[in-house]
Amino acid sequence: MNKQFDVAVIGAGAAGMMCAAVAGQRGKRVILIDHASRLAEKIRISGGGRCNFTNLHTSARNFLSDNPHFCKSALSRFTPQDFLEKLKQHGVAWHEKHKGQLFCDDSAEDIIRMLKVECDAGRVQWRMGVAVEGVQQEPEGGFCLQTAQGLVRVGQVVIATGGLSIPKIGATDFAFSVARQFGLKVIETRPALVPLTFDATAWEPFVSLSGISLEVDIETGEKKNKIVFREDLLLTHRGLSGPGVLQISSYWQSGTAIRVNLLPEIDLADELVNAKTVTKKNLDNYLAQYLPARLAEGLIRAHGFDGSQKLADMQDKRLRLLGEKINRWELFPNGSEGYRKAEVTRGGVDTRELSQQSMMSHRVSGLYFIGEAVDVTGWLGGFNFQWAWASGYAAGQAV
Ligand code: FDA
Repeated sequence: MNKQFDVAVIGAGAAGMMCAAVAGQRGKRVILIDHASRLAEKIRISGGGRCNFTNLHTSARNFLSDNPHFCKSALSRFTPQDFLEKLKQHGVAWHEKHKGQLFCDDSAEDIIRMLKVECDAGRVQWRMGVAVEGVQQEPEGGFCLQTAQGLVRVGQVVIATGGLSIPKIGATDFAFSVARQFGLKVIETRPALVPLTFDATAWEPFVSLSGISLEVDIETGEKKNKIVFREDLLLTHRGLSGPGVLQISSYWQSGTAIRVNLLPEIDLADELVNAKTVTKKNLDNYLAQYLPARLAEGLIRAHGFDGSQKLADMQDKRLRLLGEKINRWELFPNGSEGYRKAEVTRGGVDTRELSQQSMMSHRVSGLYFIGEAVDVTGWLGGFNFQWAWASGYAAGQAV
């Protein structure tokens, strides 16, 4: 039977639009289907509305995966420079914020508009607001999609429906259920880049510190598996947030500790013991030289110390204990804010099931998975979009 389209891309987000544009510009007849009525909502809300669209320092070490080398091939064939070249062609202005993170000068809408124009250049057909209810292989080859607007017969299918984060703007488990339907393994999913929460009683002493933010070293894991980020930490009513915590949340395992060094440049135990012979200050005043005063006072009390006590009157042992609490604050989260707040989903379609060249399934010829649906999860800082562009480009070249 004649196929209406060579390729159906399901999911018109970052990866799906990139893939559709590349395939369309290669002359493929492409249909792009999304159940949302608004295009690329995640790009729109990303980076505070300015979309942190890539990171200049992208490498495989910025990604988590059960199969960490998989992402290298696609990332090497579509790099941050390649994306910048596209922005140049479309006159989109951008700037670097820090650590290689690139943002639009004006608005994330610029990226959406650019991808739309690229899709139009490839004569991509759009079906927005159309749910795909099922994907079946046809006996004579190709696939049949059951959609809310009837059957669509296509040669190949690219699943670009993303992960489970932020269900209220349309995230679904579509990619994982299609993967399982075709016998592909899915690595267990969980929220990542997400604020961490604590037992309400344990967190009580810190609630009054909510809103305070500072740069820290934050780590989790032991020995070879230890990972450390130097980033901002934000205290909230329910626990910890801010870039440092989002980064560590992707690595944190339930039941284990995270450790925060609130003064990464200072050995506070030594500092306090040395200062005691020369300062007349009390603990509150002394620590306020290094930390926001409200935080210093709150931490001193939360750790069971009396802030009005003079350093000179304290035993070295007590001062060292306080130094340790600030340089190595050990915390046991009881969970996270979940998919409701997570920027991404860790886990997904097992990359061992896919070709690293094309993103096509080894088991099912003509079925591809790209973007966040795949078990490749980037750090905070533009890496997730770079993966979406690179995997979308790889599949777009291959279909
Ligand atoms: P994406 O989620 O973009 O697109 C999937 C599409 O599939 C959606 O349009 C959805 O409607 C559609 N869909 C889902 N189920 C469907 C179904 N059953 N049928 C049809 N369509 C379906 N990353 C980064 O690098 N820099 C940043 O600044 C940010 N900022 C950021 C902020 C916030 C608040 C969030 C939630 C996330 C980020 N991210 C980010 C992460 C980034 O947005 C994410 O990794 C990419 O959008 C993933 O691109 P995909 O195309 O794979 O999925």
